Amino acid sequence: NTKKIRIALDGPAAAGKSTAAKKIAEKLGFIYIDTGAMYRTLTYKALKNQIDPKNEQELYNLLLNTVIELKPGIDGQLVYLDGKEVTTEIRQQDVTQNVSDVALHQLVRSEMVRRQQELVKNGGIVMDGRDIGTAVIPDAELKIFMSATAEERARRRFEEHQKQGIESDLHVLQAEIEKRDHIDSTRAVSPLVKAEDAIELDTTHMSISEVVNKVTELAADRGAV
Ligand code: CDP
Ligand code: CDP
Repeated sequence: NTKKIRIALDGPAAAGKSTAAKKIAEKLGFIYIDTGAMYRTLTYKALKNQIDPKNEQELYNLLLNTVIELKPGIDGQLVYLDGKEVTTEIRQQDVTQNVSDVALHQLVRSEMVRRQQELVKNGGIVMDGRDIGTAVIPDAELKIFMSATAEERARRRFEEHQKQGIESDLHVLQAEIEKRDHIDSTRAVSPLVKAEDAIELDTTHMSISEVVNKVTELAADRGAV
């Protein structure tokens, strides 16, 4: 009798949230929802429409006229913007460099949170992001705050880029990650912070399977066998 709990997974960039969340969801037969992809998709559309990431009202109007869909694919989650697939486009560097400025606005966040809460209504989900345990699902059955040193997180992103044949520089990557973390953790509206009742998991010296096993164990303790 498996309980369809809600697992909130927060933490800074490249801590391994989405990699772990995908595998945990698979193991438990749950749905995985990547909320970062939603902010990235809005950012991608804003840049295309030459909307300034500082213009809260225009971003909000754009969001109200934007359909963002997350669908399970064979190789992970597929992202659709107004019916068109944008899974790889939203990982581009210009999107990464602007997403935290788009995500800091109150109007943008309240609409995103509203949509995300709609997606978790039935339980049986693993959701990753920055404010899941604090704002989206404050009553989640399991909250994890996943961390790792900035050096290790930059190294992981760098390795990922090398595998994908994307040219990048380790030090530039680390600077970009630290800049994004800074904006995310100091913004006025639901900043990136560990929820009081979240379990902190420092993954600096952990493998992916160790992380997945640890979270799955914690989920099992809460009835999701
Ligand atoms: O995967 P990566 O660590 O590069 O980031 P992401 O999860 O795709 O999130 C991209 C950005 O979206 C973050 O740096 C935040 O600025 C924003 N975000 C947020 O504000 N709240 C969330 N729940 C998820 C993402
Ligand atoms: O979603 P988030 O930005 O937190 O990180 P990610 O995109 O899931 O993970 C960044 C990279 O770290 C991926 O290439 C993983 O294979 C790698 N990694 C990990 O996720 N966890 C570890 N314990 C070790 C490496």
